[in-house]
Amino acid sequence: MDDWKRVDSYLAGKLLPEDPVLDAALAANASAGLPAIDVSRAHGKLLHILARMNGARRILEIGTLGGYSTIWLARALPPEGRLVTLEYAAHHAEVARANVARAGLSDRVEIRVGAALDSLPELKALAPFDFIFIDADKENNAAYLDWALRLARSGTVIVCDNVVRAGRIADDSASDPALQGTRKFLDRLAVEPRLTATAVQTVGDKGWDGFAIAIVD
Ligand code: SAH
Ligand code: DHB
Ligand code: MG
Repeated sequence: MDDWKRVDSYLAGKLLPEDPVLDAALAANASAGLPAIDVSRAHGKLLHILARMNGARRILEIGTLGGYSTIWLARALPPEGRLVTLEYAAHHAEVARANVARAGLSDRVEIRVGAALDSLPELKALAPFDFIFIDADKENNAAYLDWALRLARSGTVIVCDNVVRAGRIADDSASDPALQGTRKFLDRLAVEPRLTATAVQTVGDKGWDGFAIAIVD
């Protein structure tokens, strides 16, 4: 873990220049008591690059927290692009709104408060989304994948965070509901004929985890 942090710092020193807006978002999250479970800087920039690679104009995020990943993704949008992000906790959404405003992205970002499974049916009018990032309560990951498919088009990219959890995903005896939810998600991914999917393990600042990525055929 020390090695992973050391190398993440080294790479960040090379490739992730100082970013006062993102640093301010993390500081605001901390002072508001939000858990520090945002994506890492390197992972945030990866999401940004992926969204640009698919020319995303409409982005959907499930799980806002303080808007750290939201800012990385919204920065990938052209001026007329839109990002909708879904957050259950009103307090998290409030902190995220301030962080997004400080980033100058309020015109592109809409934060909807409530359980994502209640908000998702209302997004049909805004579909199709080009890029969908799933990063909320892992228990509902399979249901979120179903909604992602309903709100997608051919070429939509779907990314799901935290699919490795320090290796516990592959440990049959690990039975907490979050892991079970992610296993159900991976089972769905495996049999879904409309998707081409893989998953990649990552190490770094945030320990050992990984993400799944899929493209709609
Ligand atoms: N994507 C963020 C981190 C999200 S953490 C980032 O990388 O910066 C997960 C978030 O999902 C938390 O803020 C939590 O409140 C939210 N969440 C949990 N259950 C949810 C639900 N049912 N609907 C929407 N959001 C939910
Ligand atoms: C945790 C990390 C995450 O990235 C997340 O989305 C949820 C939980 C965690 O470390 O507990
Ligand atoms: Mg996450």
